[in-house]
Amino acid sequence: MTELDLAIRGATVVTASESVRADIGIRGGRIVALADTLEGAPREIDARGLLALPGGIDSHVHIAQPSGPGIVMADDFASATAAAAAGGNTLVMPFALQARGTSLRAAVESYRALAEGRCHVDVAMHMIVSDASPNVLGQELPSLVKDGYTSFKVFMTYDDLVLSDRDLLQVFDVARREGALVMVHCEGYDAIRFLTERLEREGRTAPYYHAVSRPEIVEREAAHRAISHAELVDVPIMIVHVSGREAMEQVRWAQSRGLKVHAETCPQYITLTAEDLRDAGLEMSGAKYVCSPPPRDRDSHAAIWEGLTQGVFQTFSSDHCPFRYDSPEGKLTPRGRTSFRWVPNGIPGIETRLPILFSEGVSKGRISLQRFVELSSTNHARIYGLARKGSIAVGYDADIALWDPNRRETIRQEILHHGADYTPWEGFEVVGWPVSTILRGEVIAEAGRVIGAPGQGRILDRQPR
Ligand code: URP
Ligand code: ZN
Ligand code: ZN
Ligand code: ZN
Repeated sequence: MTELDLAIRGATVVTASESVRADIGIRGGRIVALADTLEGAPREIDARGLLALPGGIDSHVHIAQPSGPGIVMADDFASATAAAAAGGNTLVMPFALQARGTSLRAAVESYRALAEGRCHVDVAMHMIVSDASPNVLGQELPSLVKDGYTSFKVFMTYDDLVLSDRDLLQVFDVARREGALVMVHCEGYDAIRFLTERLEREGRTAPYYHAVSRPEIVEREAAHRAISHAELVDVPIMIVHVSGREAMEQVRWAQSRGLKVHAETCPQYITLTAEDLRDAGLEMSGAKYVCSPPPRDRDSHAAIWEGLTQGVFQTFSSDHCPFRYDSPEGKLTPRGRTSFRWVPNGIPGIETRLPILFSEGVSKGRISLQRFVELSSTNHARIYGLARKGSIAVGYDADIALWDPNRRETIRQEILHHGADYTPWEGFEVVGWPVSTILRGEVIAEAGRVIGAPGQGRILDRQPR
């Protein structure tokens, strides 16, 4: 038998295709054996009664991104990845944001420098392209994709990020030529502006009106436009953070026509509603739930489950985008107090994504363990080109979440590790919780504690497609 460094013994090993009782043999950070019994390893973890899941991969998180004048994101790479580890994740994919008028290459270098030596889990970077200048389209983007930055996000809204349709088409065209995947934030800029200005004229400026200013029609229209542009250019796209039936049906329609349209959804769209944006006593507490697209209603939750069970969605990500609530640099900026328009968009969720999907999905009988693993890990690795990640199989990195499927837990801010000062899921009860997280054969989190200094996580270089 091959020499092992570590054996994980007695767990039910879950992959996208099956669940089997097996011991997992690990050497040099890789899985080298799966067998009924693996004895004699110098270190053993007793995992009887637990599930061994592929470590969670969260392919949509925002870390240390500037978000407007005077606004600071609540997480740096150390705190965000500590929270990720505690939540059963071994790999996250944040964005290197290009500010308009600046170099995309420089953005990638500066985010890498922020992450270097500070991460508890592995990191692979996407980019955000906000400036479709001739230099970006002709030089920087092609060369970065050749360097392995094979996915990037574009926005159809936000003053400082929105691309025109012509810009979108040009960016799609570069992606097609270079073999990249474009992630698209689908919400129509002009319609949102029109609605926002009308609401402000009427004095409807509380956080709740954020949801009113970005109804599902606005998301559906943009999704349809993105799909049409992708079809024109013949490029694969990923429609991110789909919030409800309208956009989901656009994706389903595109997929039924054979278009290469992938889709992602997030915990907020199966649990929260626009009603959460209404102030409940606390000053502007609705701001805690301001994210885009906004959470909808119960019927939307059902529509998202339809998409999750029918295979319309390939990935379930957090869209972690943390701001402190009780802070003038977070949700309660002086400007944010005057109108929802200025409340920074985004909610924290990197640590709670897996328990919410497991509990609402597997424990409540809506999805199988196999579908859970696909949505939380395997598909992220496959779609974003992360070799040796996202499964428990010989030759793969030993990235594993040991999971107690029966553990009841109540989500509370005080048990979380993120830099935000609240969780949108305060008091939310789940069944199923991570017991420990193993990154390339090393335990990085156990029983709610993050173990080891930051720096165990690597910044991964992806292969060009
Ligand atoms: O409100 C959100 N989701 N903020 C994060 C940025 C984005 O659009 O994903
Ligand atoms: Zn977005
Ligand atoms: Zn696919
Ligand atoms: Zn996002």
